[in-house]
Amino acid sequence: MTNSYKATPEIDVLTSDFPIPGYGLVPINAFVIKGSEPVLVDTGAVVQSGEFMPALRSVIDPTDLKWIWLTHTDFDHIGSLHQLLAGNPQLRVMTTFRGVGIMSLSAPLPLDRVHLVNPGEKIKVGDRTLTAVKPPAFDNPSTTGFYDDKSEVFFSADCFGALLTAVPQNAADLSEKDLREGQILWATVDSPWLHMVETGAFARELDGIRRMKPKMILSSHLPAAAGGMTERLLGSLAAAPAAEPFVGPNQAALQQMLKR
Ligand SMILES: [Fe+2]
Ligand SMILES: [Fe+2]
Repeated sequence: MTNSYKATPEIDVLTSDFPIPGYGLVPINAFVIKGSEPVLVDTGAVVQSGEFMPALRSVIDPTDLKWIWLTHTDFDHIGSLHQLLAGNPQLRVMTTFRGVGIMSLSAPLPLDRVHLVNPGEKIKVGDRTLTAVKPPAFDNPSTTGFYDDKSEVFFSADCFGALLTAVPQNAADLSEKDLREGQILWATVDSPWLHMVETGAFARELDGIRRMKPKMILSSHLPAAAGGMTERLLGSLAAAPAAEPFVGPNQAALQQMLKR
């Protein structure tokens, strides 16, 4: 079930809870930024594409969208991408060369409807300027989040996600323990390379987000987190490299699950 809620007066969150058996729920979020040139950030999961479009229509007419910001090309982000492009000839996709390349292996993007934005570059979309940012943790080389100067929100892609037992609309409603443990577990599942990073180098990456001072962090896999929570989010992620590496269930565990 894909629901919506408002993170700010101009930003709607389209969200569904996706169960990961034995580990909890991961929210899968897309975002609608309203303004003179409305932006859809990601397009839901492939397996949920049937429910994504009605949820999107409940917050905006998809033909009013001017842009899709594709944070990356994973299956939980591209679900309704081509349907949206087919239904709205003015719609363009902001992504990277890597994003175009990965998409070309399954569902190529029409190149005349692509706008490439590399980390550090800015793009003006109507009444706001978006600055592309490579988040400190990611699971796909095309990953590009962004900072929106109008709302002062950082859209962090998979970074700062969490596995949770229940998904509120506000990350502040999570207990300290649930947020920290959920974030660390997600980081070890989604970015296992974090265990190999040099701590000082990773701390400098996290400092980049600290200096940004976002009023809110909108992760693809966490409820909306207002600015007062940034230090907590950064603290959990800083602990991830030294956390226990995630090892998935083995074949014996799978056979046990199948017996139930
Ligand atoms: Fe991802
Ligand atoms: Fe994701």
